Amino acid sequence: MSYILDPAWHAERERLENISGLYDPGTTEICTRLGLTAGWRCLDVGAGTGGVVRMLAERVGPEGEVLAVDADTRFLEPLAGGPLTVRTMDVTAEPLPDSRFDLVHARLVLEHLAAPADVVRSMAAAARPGGWVVVEDLDWSTALTVDPPSEVHERVVACCHKVFAGTPYDASFGRRIPRLLRAAGLTDIGIRAVSMPLPADPEKGQPAWEMLVGQLAPRMLAEGLLTQADLDAFHRQWHDGETVGFGPLMVSAWGRRPV
Ligand SMILES: C[S@@+](CC[C@H](N)C(=O)[O-])C[C@H]1O[C@@H](n2cnc3c(N)ncnc32)[C@H](O)[C@@H]1O
Repeated sequence: MSYILDPAWHAERERLENISGLYDPGTTEICTRLGLTAGWRCLDVGAGTGGVVRMLAERVGPEGEVLAVDADTRFLEPLAGGPLTVRTMDVTAEPLPDSRFDLVHARLVLEHLAAPADVVRSMAAAARPGGWVVVEDLDWSTALTVDPPSEVHERVVACCHKVFAGTPYDASFGRRIPRLLRAAGLTDIGIRAVSMPLPADPEKGQPAWEMLVGQLAPRMLAEGLLTQADLDAFHRQWHDGETVGFGPLMVSAWGRRPV
């Protein structure tokens, strides 16, 4: 498995919940548009803290089914019950259940994998004929968009890219999703891309940026990519109450398994 973010980091749950808060409304909107309704069978790949599977379980109701798979299911286990089943699984090592689901979803998982096309194919095979596959991942093309211009933000984002460079993480993965869906034989491809406004807050800071960088900071410091003073300046900036940044582009794309 090639996941670069340390699952044992002390604030990992908080970081994943922040991601959920930012992106769950968009995911819900897409699933609704695709017809998510009572009785559907859904699969969420790399379900994290379960924001999406909770929404899916509510929508499919008791006659539906939701399977949450993740390599690390510690945050998901307490949610199991009713339509929701949790399974520990490395999706790069095991195939997903075949031809079963009305909706197969993965968010912020495939961008980490060394061979994402294999998992897209596995997701396509897990959809029933006529079922939907939705893949959502970031594309860092908008990550430097910040006002007022910030040298420290630029330096820290450049360091993130240096850390990524030694790993399978693909910071341009988002733009590749539609092509991968087509290559997996899916049709009726749809695409949406959104960059979230991430304003600095004097009290809360900007958790999306600060927690990601907090996760990567030990590696950045150990490799001498930046100094503690750089990190302090970065955190100060996201508490200044003035800076407005925009997050990496969240690219969501979906396609349908041919009948
Ligand atoms: C950044 S989190 C995203 C969580 C959730 N999908 C969301 O968007 O809120 C990535 C998740 O993918 C899981 N993951 C990473 N590699 C995996 C693999 N090879 N098989 C299964 N899960 C994996 C991690 O354990 C983590 O829960």
